Amino acid sequence: MVHGQQLFSHSIFLIFVDMGIFSKLFGPKLPEAHDLSALHTDLHSHLIPGIDDGVETVEDSINMIKGLMKFGYRKFITTPHILPGMYDNSPDTILPRLELVRQAIATEGLNVEIDAAAEYYYDEAFEEMAKETPLMMFSGNHILFELPNMHEPPMLKHTVFALTVRSIVPVLAHVERYSYLYEQGLSELEELVNMGVELQVNYGTFLGVYGPKLQKAAYQMVDAGLISYLGSDLHGEKHLQYIKGAFADKKFRQMLAKHEFKNKDL
Ligand SMILES: [Fe+2]
Repeated sequence: MVHGQQLFSHSIFLIFVDMGIFSKLFGPKLPEAHDLSALHTDLHSHLIPGIDDGVETVEDSINMIKGLMKFGYRKFITTPHILPGMYDNSPDTILPRLELVRQAIATEGLNVEIDAAAEYYYDEAFEEMAKETPLMMFSGNHILFELPNMHEPPMLKHTVFALTVRSIVPVLAHVERYSYLYEQGLSELEELVNMGVELQVNYGTFLGVYGPKLQKAAYQMVDAGLISYLGSDLHGEKHLQYIKGAFADKKFRQMLAKHEFKNKDL
């Protein structure tokens, strides 16, 4: 009889597991420590050696790629700075060095894909380029751009419009840095998203390396469903540590389990 009761309760247990009732009762399963494999693709990094403030050698690039692969990434869209007068990059400087990195990846036998686009700095030159110049895109029709830290460019929405009429999707890098866009609430960001802008947040922000204000804002934006992508913005070793550090926080792991980002679609 005791054996029968045990069998019965065991069966009930299996039914509960099968129905996913455990996950309904206790919430979604938290990701394993340091596991970003569900994201698959990182869309913001500085892995092309010697052309911006990112990695300096092909060897560094490979070491950083190996570091990112340990988190589960299998595809990289690397984005060297294009900032006239400081980082005068173009396909001519970026693409030959991308090939060097690809050759090194093949030599190492790494199971990973890498493409290059750019991180465009928003200035008057960019405003002009947005109108008709060919841009370095990823996933067909996306570009990554960053804004000045201190003020909203008066022509920002005109420029976004100019890009979207070309069917280009502007992805705003580390949106949390531009406090002027969310000091009065999230409506300004909502407006940009409704215009077709996609927003990206850096891992270090969730860890708090840019201060509690930005950390709080990043979580609020994710909760509001405004964030499309997480990005490493990897320049070097410290950014690997930021990702690792973010995982130490249960709130970050819960956020990862709860929200679906679009990295995997790139
Ligand atoms: Fe960057």
